[in-house]
Amino acid sequence: MRGHINDRSAATPPAWKPTPLFLSLFLGFIMSSFLLSFLLLGMTEAVLAAGDLTKYVLTSTGSENGGNTFPGVSEPFGMIKLGPDLYTGSDSYSGYQPTGVFTGFSMLHESGTGGAPKYGVVSQMPVMGNVSNPLGDHTDKRAQADETSVGYYRSSLGSGITVELGATSRAGLYMYTFPDTEEGKNVIVDVSHVLPSFRGMGLGQNYLGGNISVKEQERGGLRYSGSGSYDNGWNRSPKWTVYFCGSFDDSSATYRTFLGSDLTGSTLVKYSEDESVDSTARLGAVFSFTSSSVVSRVGVSFISTDRACENLDQQIPKGTPLSKLTSDTRKHWQDQVLSKVTTTDTNLENLQRLYSSLYFMSLIPTNKTGENPLWDSTEPYYDDIFTLWDLFRCTTALFHILQPTAYEEYIRSLIDIWRHEGYMPDARSSFWNGATQVGSNADNVLADAYVKGVRGRINWEDGYSAMVKDAEVVPPNNDDPRDKSGSTKEGRSALPDWLQYGYITPRFGRAVSRAVEYSANDFGLYQVAKGLSKDADADKYLNRSRNWRNHWNPNATSLGFSGFLVPRDEDGFIEQDPLSCGGCYWADAYYEALPWEYSFNAHHDIDELVRLSGGADTFVKRLDTMFKPGADGSDTGTLFNPGNEPSFTTPYLYNYVGRQDLSVERSRSVAKSKYHPTPDGLPGNSDAGAMESWQLWVMLGLYPMTGQPVFLIGSPWFSDLTISLDDGDGKKKLHITTTGGNEDAYYVQSLKVNGKEWRQSWVTYADIFAKGGSLEFVLGPEKQDWFTGPPPPSPASV
Ligand SMILES: *[C@@H]1O[C@H](CO)[C@@H](O)[C@H](O)[C@H]1NC(C)=O
Ligand SMILES: *[C@@H]1O[C@H](CO)[C@@H](O)[C@H](O)[C@H]1NC(C)=O
Ligand SMILES: *[C@@H]1O[C@H](CO)[C@@H](O)[C@H](O)[C@H]1NC(C)=O
Ligand SMILES: *[C@@H]1O[C@H](CO)[C@@H](O)[C@H](O)[C@H]1NC(C)=O
Ligand SMILES: *[C@@H]1O[C@H](CO)[C@@H](O)[C@H](O)[C@H]1NC(C)=O
Repeated sequence: MRGHINDRSAATPPAWKPTPLFLSLFLGFIMSSFLLSFLLLGMTEAVLAAGDLTKYVLTSTGSENGGNTFPGVSEPFGMIKLGPDLYTGSDSYSGYQPTGVFTGFSMLHESGTGGAPKYGVVSQMPVMGNVSNPLGDHTDKRAQADETSVGYYRSSLGSGITVELGATSRAGLYMYTFPDTEEGKNVIVDVSHVLPSFRGMGLGQNYLGGNISVKEQERGGLRYSGSGSYDNGWNRSPKWTVYFCGSFDDSSATYRTFLGSDLTGSTLVKYSEDESVDSTARLGAVFSFTSSSVVSRVGVSFISTDRACENLDQQIPKGTPLSKLTSDTRKHWQDQVLSKVTTTDTNLENLQRLYSSLYFMSLIPTNKTGENPLWDSTEPYYDDIFTLWDLFRCTTALFHILQPTAYEEYIRSLIDIWRHEGYMPDARSSFWNGATQVGSNADNVLADAYVKGVRGRINWEDGYSAMVKDAEVVPPNNDDPRDKSGSTKEGRSALPDWLQYGYITPRFGRAVSRAVEYSANDFGLYQVAKGLSKDADADKYLNRSRNWRNHWNPNATSLGFSGFLVPRDEDGFIEQDPLSCGGCYWADAYYEALPWEYSFNAHHDIDELVRLSGGADTFVKRLDTMFKPGADGSDTGTLFNPGNEPSFTTPYLYNYVGRQDLSVERSRSVAKSKYHPTPDGLPGNSDAGAMESWQLWVMLGLYPMTGQPVFLIGSPWFSDLTISLDDGDGKKKLHITTTGGNEDAYYVQSLKVNGKEWRQSWVTYADIFAKGGSLEFVLGPEKQDWFTGPPPPSPASV
C-alpha cells in the first residue's frame, strides 16, 4: 500500500484546521482498496504475511500543516532517514514539504521537529543534460505526488526522472530511472548541501568544508568517499562531521569532481577529473551514465570513511534489490514496534491511528551506538533527542513499556553523556546538548524509570549524581541570543534564584515555567534519593519540589477564578493577565503556554493545587473552562492547546477530583476531533512523536503520571488490545478488553483489574505492567460513579 502525499501548489497555513471525520474515513476506504489491488496484483516482492501491520501505517501522517513528520525511509530508531529535501522559502524541518522544488535526496533527517531545521546532509540530486556548473540551480519540480509506505519512497521529477529509496539503519539505496533519451544522465553529489533556515534568528546550519575522492571499484563502477562538516541548527551545535561512502555499480559511470569559490556562492572554480578535492569551499562530484537505470548505495558513519564503507558493504552489498530492503524494513517495523500492540478489532481508522502513531513515536531518538566520535565507551549511545521537554509527559513512559531493551540503553546513554560531558541533555543532536527549553527534564525521565524498577545495567548511583548536577550546579552561559540570561545548552540556568529564594525572578527567562518544571525535576530527585536510601537528600528535594507554590498569587483573577501562577521577584508578585503569556518565548515569563495552562502543572502536588485553586468543585469548573470554546478570546479556540505539551495532562486531572467520566469525555473528544491519520492530521508539531504518544495513551485508556508509578484510567477505544511487555519470549502481556463500547457508549460502567472489581480511577505499574495483567472494562452511554475508591496519590502534598 502507498499513502499518496499531496502535491499542493498553494502553501498551507501552519495553523490547525479540522478535518471532517468523513474525510478520513473516506481516505481510509481509498487506502484499503489500494491495498487490496496491491496484494491482488502482486506488485511487490515483499510478502505481506497474514497479520501484516505495516499496511495500517500511513507514513504521510503529520507531514503537512506544521506536523513536520518525516515521510521518507527509516528503520525503527534508525540512524539513516533517507528522503527528499524540498525548497519552498520556509523551513523544511524534515526535508519534506508538500510543495516547492526538490533540491536533493539526503540521508540524515529528524522527524516532527520545529525551531530550525537540522541535517539534510549526504545528498544526491539527479539531473538531465549537460551539467556545466554543478553549483548552479539544479532544483526540479514534482511531476506527480510522492509515494510513501513503510520502507519505500518514490518521487517523480519534472525532468522525467523517478527516484526510489530504501534504507537500512546505517546505509541507503537510491534507484534512479532516467528518461530513455540521448540527453545526459547525471547525479550530483554536493557535499555542501544542508537544509537551510529562513527564520532569521541565526539558527541556520552552515557547511564548513569537506572532501571527496572517487575511485574505480574492483568489479566495475565507481565508489566515492569523503566527509562533510557542518555546524549550528536549532541546538546551536559546533562543528560536527559526517563520513560517507557511496557506490555507483553501473560500469558506464564516469565522473568529474568540482570545487567552488566559497562556502555559499555558486561560482565554479574547478571542474576536473581529479581523483579528490578537499577544501573549506563547496565541493562534490558529478556522476554521469549512459544507462537509464542507475542504482546508488550509500553508507554513512560519524567515525571515518572506512567505517562508512563497512556500514555500506555489510548492510547493502552490491546487487541488493530495493524490494529486499523494503521487505526487511517492513519486517523490522512489524517485529520490533508494531506487533507490540495487537487487536482483533477491524475499525480501519482506529487501526491506522494506532499503528501510524506507534510508527511516528519510534523514528527518533536514533541509536548511534558504536558511532559516537566523542568518546570510547562500552555504554550505548542515542542521539537526536528532540526534546525531553516534549517527550517526558507521554512518550518516554510508553517507550519504556513498548521497548524495554532500547529504553534501558537510552537511559544508560543519557547517564554516559553526563559522565563524559558533565550534564545530561534535555535535547541533543549532532552529538551536542541543547537546546534546553525549560526544566532539566532528564531528571523526570530517570525518576520514572527508577520508580518503575528499570535496573538492568544502569548505574543508578551515577544516574543520581547526574540528577544532582542538574539540581545544584549552574551550567556556564552559552550566550544564546534567544535568552542571554543563562545557558540554553543544558542543566538549569535559573538555579541561582531557585537555590537562594525558592522562586525565579524575571532576571531569568521563562521564570514561571521554569519554577513549575524545576519543582517537578526536584520531585524526580526525591524519588530516586528515596529509593537509594539517601534520606536527607530525599527530604530536601521533596521540600524543593513544593516551590512552585511560591509563584501562586491567590489574588490573580481571570474568568471568575482566583489564584494563578504569576511572575514574582523579591518585592512580591508581579501583575499578570492569566490569559496572556506575552511573547511566550525564551525571554518571556512563560514558555509556549498560557498562565492558565501552567497553573495546572503541579502533577506531583495535586492536592495542594486543588486546595489553592479553590477546592474540588472549583477545580472541576476551572478544568471545564479550559475546554470551553471561545474562553481564550477567539471564536472557537480553547485555553487547552491540543498541540502543545503543557496542556497534555490537563484533561486527565478530573480523575483527582472524582470526575473520571469527564477525563474520558475531554480526552476522547480532543483526540477524535483534532487528530487524524492524514497528512494534515496533527494539531501541531509532532514533536518527535510526543503528539502521537499522547493519542496512543488516549486510545489505550490509560495516562502516565511521569515520575510516579501511577497511570490514570480513561476509556479504551478497542474491544481488545494485547500489549507485549518484554523483548524476550513475549510472554509478559497486558490484556485490555472492553464490552458495550461504541461511538456513543464510552463511559466506564465498571472495571476489573486482574479479575478483581476495581473502584480506583488509577492503577500502578506494579498492578498491570510489572508482571503483566488484565483490565476488563464495561462501557456504556451513561456516566457512572464507579470510581468510589481513593483518588490518585499526591505525593508532595502534606
Ligand atoms: C557541456 O557544457 C560545457 C560547458 O558549457 C561545454 O564546453 C560542452 O561542450 C557541453 N557539452 C555538450 C555535449 O553539450
Ligand atoms: C577528508 O576529511 C576527513 C576529515 O577531516 C579526514 O579524516 C580524511 O582523511 C580526509 N580524506 C581525504 C581523502 O582527504
Ligand atoms: C543499538 O545499536 C547497537 C549497535 O548496532 C545494537 O547492538 C543494539 O542492539 C541496538 N539497540 C537496539 C535496542 O536495537
Ligand atoms: C523545608 O523547607 C522549609 C521552609 O523553607 C525549611 O524550614 C526546612 O528546613 C526545609 N527542610 C529541609 C529538610 O530542607
Ligand atoms: C490579596 O488581597 C487581599 C485583599 O486585598 C490582601 O489582604 C492580601 O494581602 C493579598 N494577598 C497577597 C498574597 O497579595
